[in-house]
Amino acid sequence: MSVTDFIPVRMADGTLELLDQTLLPLEEKFIKIESIEALYDAIKRLQVRGAPAIGVAAGYGVYIAAKKASENASLTEALAAIRRDGEYLISARPTAVNLKWAVDRVIGKVDAAVSGQEAASPADLPAIALAEAEAIRKEDFDACMGMAENGLSLLEPGMGLLTHCNAGVLATAGYGTALAPIHLGQEKGYGFKVFADETRPLLQGARLTSWELARGGVDVTLICDNMASIVMKSGKVDAVLVGCDRMAANGDGANKIGTSGVAILAKEYGIPFYMFVPTSTIDLDTKSGSDIIIEERDSDEIAAMWYEERMAPEGIKMYNPAFDVTDAKYITAIVTEKGIVYPPFEDGLKALFE
Ligand code: MRU
Repeated sequence: MSVTDFIPVRMADGTLELLDQTLLPLEEKFIKIESIEALYDAIKRLQVRGAPAIGVAAGYGVYIAAKKASENASLTEALAAIRRDGEYLISARPTAVNLKWAVDRVIGKVDAAVSGQEAASPADLPAIALAEAEAIRKEDFDACMGMAENGLSLLEPGMGLLTHCNAGVLATAGYGTALAPIHLGQEKGYGFKVFADETRPLLQGARLTSWELARGGVDVTLICDNMASIVMKSGKVDAVLVGCDRMAANGDGANKIGTSGVAILAKEYGIPFYMFVPTSTIDLDTKSGSDIIIEERDSDEIAAMWYEERMAPEGIKMYNPAFDVTDAKYITAIVTEKGIVYPPFEDGLKALFE
């Protein structure tokens, strides 16, 4: 068994298939996605989740849009229809930049093919979109490998590591971002001991990370989010490894709700805090974390979703932000596929794109 066996986004006989992550860890089931509406719904409901995996799925989404648009009479109409579907997909979730990045990239390729007269009719567009979506998937696999190697260079065999949410295979089209060096280290006999925060309210740590790491043979211990402090204080954590959904130009990084608290704790206990960020997740157009839109989700996720009976009084006010921003000052280093960036981050991040 290889951890790549459960890469959650794949094409099978020309149809997009997603590992339905709402069913894990109880059921491993791939669902077929044949329309833009079905993909919007899968992204919104977190059947596919994790910034890079959402991006890869959205790239294929433009292919689905192009197939539908190829029935249009003219290239102009087809392009307009693809753009409409692209905007619709982007509106499914606002924080992870990979969604917009991937949609814009594939539509940009289709657009260029039309302007450059490589596409003679709407029927030519699906193949162009599919090739670019495939390129995004392959680049994501390679980026994960780059982060695995760069991240491993920061770690020693036998270390205790703590992670939040799921930034693994299940969140990408490869080894993961923050979990990539853990999987690679496992293959090389590093013997890491990993603490996985359960990650309230949607339990990505409990349902996904502990499942994924156990499947990969890693020594993993599940803890509730509010146990991170005692585990750190008792000396069991040598480094914190987390992913990112959007990194601003100054190094502030949005990630799953609760990440910023973990970073603040790590600073207090003198533990290095590494954020794993593929370049597809860096958004230099966003100046700082305060410019990142934070998704708010249904309060039922807090009050009812995991319980046999509702656990909060009817009518109580609730607030359910899906992400928070870790200020750059709490991040020890940013690990990308192109190298490790140390503070001050602004110039180092910009240089990755030069
Ligand atoms: O709401 P989710 O499950 O999509 O949130 C995922 C995260 O916050 C991950 O940590 C992030 O996308 C980085 S994944 C490589």
